Amino acid sequence: MASKRDFLNLLDYTPDELKGMIDLAIAMKKNPEEYREALKGQTLAMIFTKNSTRTRISFQTGIYQLGGQGLFLGANDLQLSRGESIEDTAKVLSRFVDGIMIRTHAHSDVTGLAEHSSVPVINGLTDYNHPCQVMADMQTIKEKFGKTEGLKMCYLGDGNNMTVSLVNGCMQFGLDVSVVSPKGYVIDQKYQDESTVNATERGTKVSYTNSVEEGASGADIIVTDTWISMGQDGGEQKLKDFAAYQVNDAVMSMADKDAIFMHCLPAHRDEEVAASVIDGKQSVIFDEAENRLHAQKAVMYNLMKK
Ligand code: CP
Ligand code: NVA
Repeated sequence: MASKRDFLNLLDYTPDELKGMIDLAIAMKKNPEEYREALKGQTLAMIFTKNSTRTRISFQTGIYQLGGQGLFLGANDLQLSRGESIEDTAKVLSRFVDGIMIRTHAHSDVTGLAEHSSVPVINGLTDYNHPCQVMADMQTIKEKFGKTEGLKMCYLGDGNNMTVSLVNGCMQFGLDVSVVSPKGYVIDQKYQDESTVNATERGTKVSYTNSVEEGASGADIIVTDTWISMGQDGGEQKLKDFAAYQVNDAVMSMADKDAIFMHCLPAHRDEEVAASVIDGKQSVIFDEAENRLHAQKAVMYNLMKK
């Protein structure tokens, strides 16, 4: 069997490979009919141990639009929930389906599934990262600005799975990025150090700061995410700690005048983002959500086309 590839982390691909997938996503969006039978007769197993609106629906609709079918497997559907191993699950699923998409908590479960599966595995979000979302984000940025290189992104919020993938996406697509989080909520120092080295190698800049003004100043793209991710607690205290880190009109006025606002959704209006911003003129959130469909079709095509 030819060696299969998985889609677990944006850093597993070259910048050219990722850019090629985004160009394909844009082509598929313009002309979906041309790809109607690209994955004819193929089945994608979709394992979810966390909730999802966009990821579930875009994968299921996406594989259908490519001529295949999606098989939704919720948290309690598989014997995995009764203790069957990741290894056996991977080997058994590989005998039935042509690809596996998984959204779950531990990133190691996804890498384990990929290691023991003979079909491609796609990461639909873990506690560590969310690469599919950032493919849609990069597609959206390319559509809005006509390019990704040379732009400046500011991510304002919790150091979480979106932070990791946005930083990786920026370095792969040629953007500088500043990450603004309150003290105590910045992603691990080890990851900060690694990302700084990786960005330098690719000729981009990544910086981490607690200062909103320093991070947002002159940005072309302002992004945020929920302050409390799936599986996290710490509600009331966290809301207090983040109070000065909301994306509001004052933050948008620090950015470039043509800046766009992005959010992977689901959003919490008047927590991480003011309603006036997310529902305002600079917001591109629904184009971004739609692009999950096109970007995911391009990822599946790349991995599963025989
Ligand atoms: N952005 C995103 O992944 O949305 P869902 O959680 O609804 O899939
Ligand atoms: N950080 C969020 C992203 C949701 C798409 C979470 O993990 O809940």
